[in-house]
Order: sequence, then structure tokens, then C-alpha cells
Amino acid sequence: MSLASSPGPGWLLFSFGMGLVSGSKCPNNCECQAQEVICTGLELTEYPPDIPLDTRRLFLDDNCITFLPAMTLGLLSDLVYLDCQNNLIQEVMDYTFIGVFKLIYLNLSYNNLTLISPYSFSVLSNLVQLNISNNPHLLSLNKYTFANTSSLRYLDLRNTGLQTLDHAAFHNILTLHTVYLSGNPWKCNCSFLDFTIFLIVSDLDHPDDANATCVEPTELAGWPITQVGNPLRYMCITHLDRQDYIFLLLIGFCIFSAGTVAAWLTGVCAVLYQNALRKSSEDEAEDEHGQRVEVSRTIFPHSADSGHDGFPQLI
Ligand SMILES: *[C@@H]1O[C@H](CO)[C@@H](O)[C@H](O)[C@H]1NC(C)=O
Ligand SMILES: *[C@@H]1O[C@H](CO)[C@@H](O)[C@H](O)[C@H]1NC(C)=O
Ligand SMILES: *[C@@H]1O[C@H](CO)[C@@H](O)[C@H](O)[C@H]1NC(C)=O
Ligand SMILES: *[C@@H]1O[C@H](CO)[C@@H](O)[C@H](O)[C@H]1NC(C)=O
Ligand SMILES: *[C@@H]1O[C@H](CO)[C@@H](O)[C@H](O)[C@H]1NC(C)=O
Ligand SMILES: *[C@@H]1O[C@H](CO)[C@@H](O)[C@H](O)[C@H]1NC(C)=O
Repeated sequence: MSLASSPGPGWLLFSFGMGLVSGSKCPNNCECQAQEVICTGLELTEYPPDIPLDTRRLFLDDNCITFLPAMTLGLLSDLVYLDCQNNLIQEVMDYTFIGVFKLIYLNLSYNNLTLISPYSFSVLSNLVQLNISNNPHLLSLNKYTFANTSSLRYLDLRNTGLQTLDHAAFHNILTLHTVYLSGNPWKCNCSFLDFTIFLIVSDLDHPDDANATCVEPTELAGWPITQVGNPLRYMCITHLDRQDYIFLLLIGFCIFSAGTVAAWLTGVCAVLYQNALRKSSEDEAEDEHGQRVEVSRTIFPHSADSGHDGFPQLI
């Protein structure tokens, strides 16, 4: 008994270590061959243990996995293909894929994603195909989500809860070739304008564009988002809300009052100036009078002189 039980844990530990190092193990009920692990449809509720470390293709599709553990997934540094479609994954965090930086294909469709953190894919610079379709509770994508996925060619965003996309999200994916956008409740308001213009001017392939339609506003409901660029531009550039009218009214009032004040000031200045002018002209008139007096005085003495000289003589 003591002989049999003492090597037991040691052997277990040893085999676990060997399993980690050599990658010779295979998760229960999965198929492992030639760097490929297939755990499809096993009703797994957790990420399976014992996945060989040299795995390049991992199929976890059609299970009930709720969460991808970054620590254990990150051990698979050669992984290029990860299929997690049809599970119950709720969140993808910034560090979820931090160890699997060689990933080329990632399928997260048919999950229950509610959140994709902004830097979730930031180390996946080799990613070529990303499928996050059919996640109806996924309501938004940050504009930095694809900032570093510089090799991305195929992006599937069908049937999610996305209402809007920031066109800046696509600035860094110059390789992007095909994007699927149908089945989303697109809200074609003025914030969406830049993205619709981007769809027009970029030469992206959008094979399902006939079904990628606006849900709001009612005037544009049912319009394909690839065709609302121009109506939206018209609406957003000429359309005025009540707020805009109030703003315009306020501006008008300001201009009106400024004008009134300016007119009043001008009037006051004019009156003051005229008063000053009148005063100075009165002074001048007084001056003139004084001068006349002086003149007459100068004449008077002259005339007096002259009178003194001539008139008295005449009289
Ligand atoms: C899952 O996504 C990958 C990558 O986009 C894709 O190659 C694969 O075809 C998808 N699976 C199915 C069943 O479409
Ligand atoms: C999916 O996520 C939503 C929102 O978090 C939750 O209400 C719902 O129960 C989830 N569905 C499943 C099948 O887990
Ligand atoms: C993109 O990757 C570079 C290095 O590979 C890193 O410095 C940078 O922070 C990453 N950007 C984002 C948005 O994660
Ligand atoms: C994404 O996955 C869904 C289902 O898993 C599949 O139908 C679709 O073809 C995939 N998209 C791409 C671009 O491979
Ligand atoms: C447009 O709709 C989106 C999504 O609901 C919202 O975040 C944004 O603020 C809206 N923009 C405008 C200008 O109403
Ligand atoms: C659009 O949706 C209809 C009905 O769901 C479908 O029959 C059609 O094939 C779809 N078209 C495209 C281009 O996806």
C-alpha cells in the first residue's frame, strides 16, 4: 500500500509536467492529431485542460464555454486557428489573447458577447479573419478595437446589436478587403455619416450590403447603409433641430442687442459731438463778436482819428 501510494502523486506530478513540456496529452473526449485539437460539440462548460502546447488549430465550437482563460490559452503560443463559435462566451478582455499572438483565424460567432475590450485584439497583428457575427448583445465596438490588427482582411460583424461604428476604427486596417454588416440595427444619425462616407469612398467589399440597412430614423428605415451617405450628408448639413433654432434666435437677439447698443452709443456720441461742436461754434461766434468789437474799436479809433481828422471838419 505504502509502496503503491507513494509513487502515485509523484508519477501524476511527473506526467503532468511531461504533459506540459512535451504536449503529449489530449483533453478528455477531444481528438488530437498533428497539432490540431478538436473538441467540437462536447457540452464543455469550461475551457478544457491538457491541450498540447504545440497546438496550432483548436476547435472548441458548439460547446457551452462561458469564458476564455488568458493564462492557459496563452500557453499555446503557436496557435493560428481558434474556433469558439456557438458557445456562451460573454466577454473578451484586454488580456484574453495576449499569449496567442500568432493567431490568424478567430471565430467568436454565435456567442453571447456583451463586451469586447478596446485592446482585446491589440497583439493580434497577424489576424486575417475575424468573425464576431451573431452576438446580439454586443452593442458597441471601441474605435481602438482594430487599431493593431494590421493584417485583417475579412471581418464579419453580421447580426450583432451594433447601432453605430466609428469610421476611425478602420483607419489602421489598410488590408481590409471584405466586411459583413447586415442584420444590425444601424442607427443612421449624423454620427454615422462619416462611416457611410467611408463605405462609399473605400473600395471595401460588402457582399451583404443589400441587407445592411438602417433601422432609424424612420425616414431612412430600410435603406442600405451603403446608400445613405448622400441623404445623410444633406440631412446633417441642412437639417435644423429646435435647439438649432433656439441657438439661432439667441444669436439673432445678441446681434440685435449689440446693434441697438452700438446705435445708441453712436447716437450719444453724435449728440455729444454736436453739442461740443455747437459749444465751440458759439465760442467762435463770441470770438467773432469780440473781434468785430476789436475791429470796430480799431476802426473806431481810426474813424475817430479820421473823424478827428475829417468829420469834425465836415460837421
Ligand atoms: C469561423 O471563422 C473563421 C474565421 O473567420 C472562418 O474561417 C470559418 O469558416 C468560420 N466558421 C464557419 C463555420 O463559418
Ligand atoms: C446573454 O447575455 C445576456 C446579457 O448579459 C443575459 O441576459 C443572457 O442571460 C445571456 N444568455 C445566455 C444564454 O447566457
Ligand atoms: C500596437 O502594438 C504596438 C507594438 O506592437 C504597441 O506598442 C501599441 O501599444 C499597440 N497599440 C494598441 C492600440 O494596442
Ligand atoms: C462567421 O461565422 C458564421 C457562423 O459561424 C459563418 O456562417 C460565416 O460564414 C463566418 N464568416 C466568415 C467571413 O467566415
Ligand atoms: C447616434 O446614435 C448613436 C447610437 O445610438 C449615439 O451614440 C450617438 O450619440 C447618436 N448621435 C447623434 C448626433 O445623435
Ligand atoms: C438578404 O436577406 C434575405 C432574407 O433574409 C435573403 O434571402 C438574401 O439572400 C439576403 N441577401 C444578401 C445579399 O445577403
